[in-house]
Amino acid sequence: MEPVKEVRSVGVVGGGTMGAGIAQVFAAKGFRVMLVDIRDEALARARGAVEGSLSRLVRKGALQEADRAAALERLAFERDARAVAGADFVVEAVVEDADLKRQVFRELDGLLRPGVVLASNTSSISITRLAAATRRPEAVIGMHFMNPVPLMELVEVIRGHATCDATHAVAVDLALRLGKTPVTVSDYPGFVSNRVLMPMINEAIYALMEGVASKEDIDTVFRLGMHHPMGPLALADFIGLDVCLSILEVLHRGLGDPKYRPCPLLRRMVEAGHLGRKTGKGFYDYPEQGGWTSS
Ligand code: CAA
Repeated sequence: MEPVKEVRSVGVVGGGTMGAGIAQVFAAKGFRVMLVDIRDEALARARGAVEGSLSRLVRKGALQEADRAAALERLAFERDARAVAGADFVVEAVVEDADLKRQVFRELDGLLRPGVVLASNTSSISITRLAAATRRPEAVIGMHFMNPVPLMELVEVIRGHATCDATHAVAVDLALRLGKTPVTVSDYPGFVSNRVLMPMINEAIYALMEGVASKEDIDTVFRLGMHHPMGPLALADFIGLDVCLSILEVLHRGLGDPKYRPCPLLRRMVEAGHLGRKTGKGFYDYPEQGGWTSS
């Protein structure tokens, strides 16, 4: 089955930080977007995040007020997954749980018309495994956006074992139409971004646990010494410590090398519910943001 190439409407499944950002960038570039989440509070938060982000872009002169209003008009927030049934392209961005993602893929496969490409924003789960939950594995691909989606230029495009060339071309073309730079990678655990980023974050946590330096000093080394916009501990808080832990577990299990073993301090913080910015507490305190725990 040839994939649907003419994409005008996009379904985004999962209204967390990433889903909201992905919905925003598609809507801002003229696509009709249906953002679906089963939780009302996630939809309300996603709407607030999109409105806030578009307003920031207007304030800094990167977007016209009229374009902000038009983008919001193209964006619908829905509770029922059937809202994406007519979409020409779908991106899944639910929480990083392989079983849940496979269930969502199975459901979407039954809803969407044949040939509609199904992309996952997973940060480390095998695209091949997600594709195998559907009857359209050739039309399944990874599109890994970076947080904050409206600002970060990269999209990692991941070809699964069965992904066909035409599906790959659709994903690359869409990334370019969003003004992003696509980089195509093979389906190995953590792809490129997290295979390299997460060991650095994990090692920074080991350095903190072993008392090599304070959290502020570890971060300063990277901000001033390597010109990173954030140090690794601040970045871990930004990404979410639960997300970091689950990616490290995928790397550890998938590559079988003890160098990916998650730091015990990271595990303990996740067990304590100190997940970073989204809970108001991680390596640093974020008193203005606390209160919610889903990613
Ligand atoms: N939408 C729109 N504008 C935004 C925004 C958003 N969501 N977030 C920040 N901005 C704007 C701000 O308004 C501000 O604009 P001005 O420069 O005009 O004032 C600008 O971006 C900078 O923001 P801040 O001053 O608040 O803070 P900052 O200078 O520290 O920048 C940052 C914030 C862009 C997030 C920067 O710190 C950064 O690039 N950090 C690293 C992010 C990163 O590494 N992301 C990848 C994470 S890994 C991942 O996503 C994948 C995975 O699988 C884990």
